Amino acid sequence: MLAASDLSNSTKPELYRDLAAQLRALTADETDSIANMANCAALIYNSVPRLNWAGFYLLKGGELVLGPFQGQPACVRIALGRGVCGTAAESHSTLRVADVTKFPGHIACDSASRSEIVVPMLTGDSHLIGVLDVDSPELDRFDAEDEAGLKVLAEIIARKI
Ligand code: SME
Repeated sequence: MLAASDLSNSTKPELYRDLAAQLRALTADETDSIANMANCAALIYNSVPRLNWAGFYLLKGGELVLGPFQGQPACVRIALGRGVCGTAAESHSTLRVADVTKFPGHIACDSASRSEIVVPMLTGDSHLIGVLDVDSPELDRFDAEDEAGLKVLAEIIARKI
């Protein structure tokens, strides 16, 4: 079994550095994008503390469509500009939402979610591929270190989709 390493005693930057190394290793010899995203979602969900959802939405036919994830079943299609995912995707910018109930248009897939971070994945020439979406049952769970770390993971996986 490919278990995620025990990183429970790491600082946050160390945790994300280790996760980036694990993700590079997990995806190095694999070209299948679904397999790579599935392992990335599992790695994040099982290694980053206090999450209830981690996964991908991919741009297909002008809308976001659910990709590999870990957590409760989620809404399948999200229009660009809708919710946290659609807004981050449309603006090509990372959105860190401390309290999802205060985000206009937030789409509540899992009622346990209290805070959320969405990182767009872009091609080398800045075309949207999709988003990495990570949710927590804790208010204000994600800080700048989480954002920096998850951006690196999104960049790694964007090259493997
Ligand atoms: N909350 C997201 C929808 C996706 S779920 O969190 C998995 C949003 O508002 O876009």
